[in-house]
Amino acid sequence: MNYDKRKTIIAGNWKMNKLPSETYDYIKEVAAKVEGAKCEVVACVPFVNLANAIEAAKGTNVKIGAENLHFMPSGAFTGEVSAAMLKDIGVEYVIIGHSERRQYFAETDITVNKKVIAALEAGLKPIVCVGELLDEREQGITAEIVSIQTKIAFMGVDKSAFKNIVIAYEPVWAIGTGKTATSDQAEEVCKIIRDVLCDLYDEETAEGTTIQYGGSMNAGNAKELLGKYDVDGGLIGGASLKSEDFATIVKAAE
Ligand code: 13P
Repeated sequence: MNYDKRKTIIAGNWKMNKLPSETYDYIKEVAAKVEGAKCEVVACVPFVNLANAIEAAKGTNVKIGAENLHFMPSGAFTGEVSAAMLKDIGVEYVIIGHSERRQYFAETDITVNKKVIAALEAGLKPIVCVGELLDEREQGITAEIVSIQTKIAFMGVDKSAFKNIVIAYEPVWAIGTGKTATSDQAEEVCKIIRDVLCDLYDEETAEGTTIQYGGSMNAGNAKELLGKYDVDGGLIGGASLKSEDFATIVKAAE
């Protein structure tokens, strides 16, 4: 992490976990444990949990995010939720392009790009996920894959938007598997992403953008991962569902 240049952000991604009725108390529990944290703390929760999460987060230092959105502003898209709808209820962040969305819901680099633009236009802060599959790592093409994902995600995005953009490097083979990337592997790829931003924009944009690591980050390994210069936070799945573990990761970021 480089505290001087960029914000450290620890974000939970609840995925399809926790009921709306459990959400208020759980957010309060997390908020009590992370009060006064020096880093930004975010909880990204399912659509139907958002209202309760936002209510519970009022007056605390926990920010609330969604896990997805649709790129169209409104219209005949049954079952979808727009950026404006999320903004309207007080959502601040939104995860875009998570590998589970790419894998199970046919999201592509192009839809990720459309969603990034829609989120920014509505005033939401996108957390844009990139990362390679195990086969791609074994083939030695990790750098190419994350570079292409990053380049396409930000097509048509002005550098002034980057103060509101977060990137999460999530190697797919490390998600929910208990197999964490080593801190050197995380650092190497976060640096590759930063270099892409430098090529696309400039050094100031690259150095100022928060790049998180995600993939089996937990209370035990967070400190080492977050100790790396180019790793500016974490996107936490499983460990964000236990307030004690999540709070330990927040402390590790300090
Ligand atoms: P896990 O922390 O459960 O591996 O999930 C990571 C993730 O996908 C966060 O978006």
